[in-house]
Amino acid sequence: MKALVLSGGSGTRLRPFSYSMPKQLIPIANKPVLEYVLESIRDAGITDIGIVVGDWASAIDEAIGDGSRLGVRVTYIRQDEPRGLGHCVAIARDFLGDDDFVMYLGDNFLPDGILRSTEEFTARRPAAQVLVYKVADPRQFGIVELDQHGNVRGLVEKPEQPVSDLAVVGVYFFTSAIHDAVDAIPPSARGELEITDAIQWLLTNGAEVRAIEYQGYWKDTGRTEDVLECNRHQLGALRSANLGDVDDASELVGQVVIGPGARVLRSRIEGPVVVGANTVVEASNIGPYTAIGENCLVRTTNLGDSIVLDGASISDVPGLRGSLIGRSATIRSRATGRRMVVGDDAWIELAA
Ligand code: DAU
Repeated sequence: MKALVLSGGSGTRLRPFSYSMPKQLIPIANKPVLEYVLESIRDAGITDIGIVVGDWASAIDEAIGDGSRLGVRVTYIRQDEPRGLGHCVAIARDFLGDDDFVMYLGDNFLPDGILRSTEEFTARRPAAQVLVYKVADPRQFGIVELDQHGNVRGLVEKPEQPVSDLAVVGVYFFTSAIHDAVDAIPPSARGELEITDAIQWLLTNGAEVRAIEYQGYWKDTGRTEDVLECNRHQLGALRSANLGDVDDASELVGQVVIGPGARVLRSRIEGPVVVGANTVVEASNIGPYTAIGENCLVRTTNLGDSIVLDGASISDVPGLRGSLIGRSATIRSRATGRRMVVGDDAWIELAA
């Protein structure tokens, strides 16, 4: 069995980040979403992985390389434009051959993994197996409609008037039957080859399509709020470790990870918090639910429930919460109670 990971796309809902990095590399508890994806596939016993990449091909290659660091073998497949999830299957035809495969969206966060779902698929081998999850706002997702016996009756992509609250999770299992379906469907009204249309085609043509309710934690990391929620979830499982220097005037409370070479001076850190390698935290209050990347500086600042990417510098900010701060961004402020979503390399100074 193979895996196809989709890491192209435009990521417009995650602006301003998507101007300078692919959304699949946004860190959750200091690890890129895409790494969780590859680990979850590997832990299901699948190591032959094709990754569909678009304009951010080189950034993804730089982060993941040939996959050997993660114990997988990666083949990159270039997509010229985001022409839909079905299009990704079509351009991966040579890589996939006639093998069964799992298609995994590179911005989907499933830290509990897909081992059980993979076993369910291989035991029965329907033409398609989708995972579903009850959501509050089904209009943002592909939706599955079931009949009274729990069989899939139909799939609709982001319906205005949803017929169910069962969203399609971004992990799909297919036999090679999907290739005929992708070849047969026309582009949708938005000009994309929709995988939901291909699965609907399978249904219409009498193939077996199964829907299984996913039992673990699932989030599409499409928006800032979702990224922060995943960060909270993942930090909740943190185990303390101190590989850096914490001075006597500082206090660490709860689960806190201090990376190698990091220094904590005259500060209070209330976990769960992770501080990346070579970061300096000085005269600050940090946490809970905060992930600070590598080579950052946080000075005389109160920071909680936030993600700070590598190389960022935050000084004199008395209250920053629910924030996402880009790589090498600089923030200085005397103002209180702000919330910020700051892209890479930004420079922000707020007067009181
Ligand atoms: O997260 C689950 C949802 O994912 C499903 O419920 C929907 O049915 C499914 O269409 C998808 O919706 P999104 O709007 O979240 O898809 P998005 O455009 O964000 O693309 C998902 C991933 O696939 C993302 O990592 C980018 C990548 N992608 C997307 C397109 C359209 C590609 O690599 N190439 C593409 O052409």
